Amino acid sequence: MATDPLRLGIAGLGTVGGGVVRLIEDHRALLAERLGREVVITRISARDRSRERPFDVAAYGWVDDPVDLATVDDVDVVVELIGGSDGPALALVRGALAAGRPVVTANKALLAHHGAALAAVAEKTGAMLAYEAAVAGGIPVVKALREGLIANRLTRIAGILNGTCNYILSRMEATGAEFADVLAEAQAHGYAEADPAFDIEGTDAAHKLTILATLGYGAAVDFGQLHVEGITSITADDIAFARELGYRIKLLGIAESDGNGIAARVHPTLVAHHTPLAEVDGVYNAVQIEGEPVGRLFLEGPGAGAGPTASAVVADLCYVAWNTDAEGPSSAPVYMKHAANLVTGDLRPMSDHVGRFYIRLNVIDRPGVMAAVTEVFARHAVSLESIIQRKRDADAPVPIVLMTHEAREAVMQAAIGEIGRLEAVTAPPCLIRLETM
Ligand SMILES: NC(=O)c1ccc[n+]([C@@H]2O[C@H](COP(=O)([O-])OP(=O)(O)OC[C@H]3O[C@@H](n4cnc5c(N)ncnc54)[C@H](OP(=O)(O)O)[C@@H]3O)[C@@H](O)[C@H]2O)c1
Repeated sequence: MATDPLRLGIAGLGTVGGGVVRLIEDHRALLAERLGREVVITRISARDRSRERPFDVAAYGWVDDPVDLATVDDVDVVVELIGGSDGPALALVRGALAAGRPVVTANKALLAHHGAALAAVAEKTGAMLAYEAAVAGGIPVVKALREGLIANRLTRIAGILNGTCNYILSRMEATGAEFADVLAEAQAHGYAEADPAFDIEGTDAAHKLTILATLGYGAAVDFGQLHVEGITSITADDIAFARELGYRIKLLGIAESDGNGIAARVHPTLVAHHTPLAEVDGVYNAVQIEGEPVGRLFLEGPGAGAGPTASAVVADLCYVAWNTDAEGPSSAPVYMKHAANLVTGDLRPMSDHVGRFYIRLNVIDRPGVMAAVTEVFARHAVSLESIIQRKRDADAPVPIVLMTHEAREAVMQAAIGEIGRLEAVTAPPCLIRLETM
């Protein structure tokens, strides 16, 4: 495995670029240990050098023209986080790939418009083009499609691919307010851009669907051919009627194929209550994938923001690092390596587990039984949140259910061991742990 550091040239230092620099600085030891190779930033570039950033700009070599990162000689990987389908982002990515230099990008507009042409350049020179962050932010959906599901014939990809729209539709449902009022509120909270057209008219979701469909079906899907509707005409009445009928309204990007062509569309959709996509609320993204023979999968997570998007960009950097090793491609470690200063490998004993518990007892219904049970819990300092006893029967054991507040596993086991030995308790107590998810 190479010991040479992987040298990055990062173009674009805004929300995502700033997040990537911070993540690489904060997780330097963890990344070096997991990769067997250091990740270092040698060059950075943006529009304005003097702008306030969440890291020390002077720590890295500044490049005025980001397109120069395609050819400067102390950069192994170009990280394009400028944005926009054309301009310097396109020139940089095309230039780097043509020069055989790997590129990591989060730029969905660029890929939706020029993905097929850029892929052709990359295939010609053998340079890698990685774009996990371009679709659904922190959700590793590109990796899932490209690697985890490679053996499948996909039939449907359906996703909530724009957090702004999902936030607006969720708030309209929760508050009964009209679209324009909720949009203004979203802008005030930073969940919608000052110019929200790209999001609310469905363009951003269509960019991402173009990438997913091209990747999943292996055919160059033309962004211009997609049917695209946004959410601007949805009213509070639509949301209320849909609810009455048993549905929620979601902006979905859907790409389907029966093996004979591809249908790809973005539009508001009635989705039945209690299905996974209907339950995705707020700024979250989700993707449901159906394929043969795997069946149906569902991925949900944060679709934007500095941290989640940086997580996806750095994952791509690791992928590039493994595949550009000077001594030949290596691969991910069999098990993740943990930097010693972050996590020790020791497994905590179950007896240290702390949580809440549901306990069902079968008891003979006679005076003093409940007092005996609660006395044991009190002596072990386990406090009870509620007790339910519904049935009364002098002739047969009846169930009693107790919910506890937080308690240590070892203490609970000691308490229910004692309770199980009480004469009036007719069967071993049933204990179910409660988890907050
Ligand atoms: N924000 C998210 O949550 C998110 C999520 C997934 C994907 N993405 C994608 O990630 C990319 C970056 O998004 P962002 O939100 O980080 O954007 P942003 O905050 O607006 O940052 C853009 C950066 O690019 C620089 N830049 C813009 N035009 C330039 C030019 N002509 N020459 C040199 N530098 C230029 C800016 O420089 P200055 O700082 O000097 O102005 C800024 O540092 C986009 O493709 C976006 O679609 C974003």
